[in-house]
Amino acid sequence: MEEFGSLVRRLILLLGAFTGILLLIPLLLYLHKTKTPTFVVVDEPATVLNEWLPETILKESPDVSPLVKKGFLFVSQTSQEMGPLASQEADRFSGNNLSCTNCHLNGGALPGSASWVHIVDRFPQFGGRANAIGTLEDRINGCMERSMNGKKLAEDAPQMKAIIAYMDWLESVFPKEIKTFKGYPAITIPTVAVDLEKGKSIYTKECTLCHGVEGQGVLRSDPNQGYEYPPLWGADSYNDGAGMHRVITAAAFIKNNMPFGQATWQAPKLTDEEAFHVAGYINSFERPHKQNTEADYPDKKLKPVSTPYGPWADTFSPTQHKYGPFPPIIDFYLQSYSLKKTK
Ligand code: HEC
Ligand code: HEC
Repeated sequence: MEEFGSLVRRLILLLGAFTGILLLIPLLLYLHKTKTPTFVVVDEPATVLNEWLPETILKESPDVSPLVKKGFLFVSQTSQEMGPLASQEADRFSGNNLSCTNCHLNGGALPGSASWVHIVDRFPQFGGRANAIGTLEDRINGCMERSMNGKKLAEDAPQMKAIIAYMDWLESVFPKEIKTFKGYPAITIPTVAVDLEKGKSIYTKECTLCHGVEGQGVLRSDPNQGYEYPPLWGADSYNDGAGMHRVITAAAFIKNNMPFGQATWQAPKLTDEEAFHVAGYINSFERPHKQNTEADYPDKKLKPVSTPYGPWADTFSPTQHKYGPFPPIIDFYLQSYSLKKTK
């Protein structure tokens, strides 16, 4: 009888504890919720694009310094301000008619397109291409000499000072709630090589409308205003030493940003493999040549695997470096040098 009594008491205790826990769960959940910092995740792809527009903000802010506004012009109307369309010969530094913001979208503020938000915090930093610690000015000149197929700006050039002022301004005013990315969200590197036929058919379906059958882009109705849709290959495009000329880098940009207006990093349109094939396709055509690329990456082991020009610290063929398949090359660097390659 006594045993039965203690059993009942234990059962009651157990039941009590169980009910207690059940009651506690909603309370804990409530506390957890209220303790989590309010973090606005911008879900709608359209909102991300339209959420925060540097151009509009600058227009509506009389207090922003003229230097910052000038910096915005240099990066968004590069050809007119410091390129082939500039009226004075001495002002022409970029060599093609692209704008910086053709690749660094929404004034360099769009997550997923190598945004410049917080970039001033990340430099100086080590860069494999020069095998040295480089300043932000060095990095900008990297794009000047390659993506823009042009000349370096002096560190104290008015153009450089204005561009840096603009990047400083981005740092100070960008809303903390909007996500930002360094570089591009990575793609899964396909196990196959680029298939140019597949690339061509994706290009025809998804890209021709804006970039043209010959990749030549579309000029604005007043050609002195530069491109409405920038070219992807040919004489007026980025040169063969540019980051966009590496198929893995180009695929990551394309997957997260193109077709323009339809794809974002949150809602891409193409699959990793489709982006890879079409990136290989646009990079299969002629473009300006960068001199002296043999000197890039003094430590050849640090060269990204899809750098299409030699020399390399391996014996894979130039074709494989340009089009893949990349997993064997990546594996080689891991086995031989314990280096984990992502691009
Ligand atoms: C609706 C028009 C449109 C479509 C379709 C489109 N793009 Fe673009 N693309 C643009 C615009 C506009 C820019 C420049 C963005 C800016 O300045 O804000 C751009 C920029 C680019 C750039 C970087 C700048 C350059 O000229 O090198 C690449 C690379 C690119 N697009 C590739 C592609 C590929 C590949 C496709 C097809 C999968 C594609 N685009 C589809 C409009 C488009
Ligand atoms: C044809 C496309 C293209 C154009 C045009 C271009 N860039 Fe870039 N830029 C890139 C690519 C690709 C990278 C490397 C992104 C990566 O791999 O993370 C890059 C990187 C950068 C970085 C370093 C980003 C980081 O997070 O480390 C800066 C700064 C930069 N570019 C500035 C500029 C400026 C300023 C201009 C105009 C003078 C310009 N770029 C024009 C493609 C371009």
